[in-house]
Amino acid sequence: MYAPKQVVSNDELAQRGLDTSDEWIRSRTGIARRHLAGDHENTAQMAIAAAHDALQVADADPREIDLIILATVTSNHMMPSTACMVQDALGAIRAGAFDLNAGCSGFVYALSLAQQAIASGEHSLVLVIGAETLSRALNWEDRGTCVLFGDGAGAVLLRATEGPAGIQASVIGSDGSGSNLLIIPAGGSAMPATHDTVDQKLHCIQMNGQEVFRFATTILAQATEQVVTKAGWQMQDVTLIVPHQANLRIIASASKRLKLPVERFVINLEDYGNTSAASIPIALCEAIGAGRIGPGQNIVLVGFGAGLTWGATAIKWSVAPGEAAVPGYRNAWRWLLYRWAKLRSFTRQKLRRTLMLFIRKADHIGRQ
Ligand code: UT7
Repeated sequence: MYAPKQVVSNDELAQRGLDTSDEWIRSRTGIARRHLAGDHENTAQMAIAAAHDALQVADADPREIDLIILATVTSNHMMPSTACMVQDALGAIRAGAFDLNAGCSGFVYALSLAQQAIASGEHSLVLVIGAETLSRALNWEDRGTCVLFGDGAGAVLLRATEGPAGIQASVIGSDGSGSNLLIIPAGGSAMPATHDTVDQKLHCIQMNGQEVFRFATTILAQATEQVVTKAGWQMQDVTLIVPHQANLRIIASASKRLKLPVERFVINLEDYGNTSAASIPIALCEAIGAGRIGPGQNIVLVGFGAGLTWGATAIKWSVAPGEAAVPGYRNAWRWLLYRWAKLRSFTRQKLRRTLMLFIRKADHIGRQ
């Protein structure tokens, strides 16, 4: 995972002139602080940093990755997919790459697709990333949204394995009748950028918080129940739930509906706020780091968000924490591969430019 170094507390937001308070934000959301990208950081860079981490933990060779799915609502550009920049930086020369926009459910959607790509026999190593730079899509004068979100990235590698462990079931869903509830209105084909759209801050996130809250409290429990049933488990079999980190009250409500103690949920939104598609992989990484996840456990990841969308994944965990210890020379080898990838990218760009100049010149001479 990767979180920007810059941490901004609730008090700091209030000190910057926003009409809010630490008391309000904490009591209504559970958020105390969030990581915000510095000028030098963006979604691609954070995704690459998280991918480096995942490749190290899995001790994998980037050249063996078959597919990269980057879940995000804050791509570096409208076009191309930020996933392609990740592919280039990693030197994942065999990989197809694309961005997936399913709001805050994006990471769970991506896991579901990755698992199916592997189960079909088409791919054997898939990199799934959730990465967001939401701070660039916020209206910093809108206290109803800007206090909620943060930036960061998390990544996992999915590998084909034999045996009973791994992803047991996934559910995904959507209800586009709620598409206006959480939206960046301008910048797409329906409302291209104009001076007016910029002046009106229509390129920023707008949310009907209460409606989304109502949807979230129901769907978090429902999607969890569905995936647990699909996996053939009982609710009591679930060791840990890693929910989308939007609001502590939403998680508490799901805990009540599912009749599971809140201790069975991974909660880290106090430190990160809502990082949309990155929130589940970041929480997953932290739970692994804290020793809360181990072999044989039944884990549920569950998200909801813009679309409206929702999704849940049931995983029988198989990786022992000790397996993460990778010999130093393997990391040095990967570091060299990344340097090579950079050089390769640079050379290809130069060659492409030179080739174009050559073709234009030849064309010019031909016409003379
Ligand atoms: O990942 C995407 C999914 N997003 C979510 O899950 C968000 C779901 N929604 C929520 O979490 C909650 O609806 C919010 C945290 C966004 C808002 O909490 P709420 O309890 O629903 O508050 P509210 O919108 O009903 O606003 C209550 C009051 C209003 O003032 P008045 O009209 O009662 O005078 C707001 O203007 O709180 C005011 N308010 C604030 N006050 C201080 C709204 N934002 C703030 C703020 N600081 N940051």
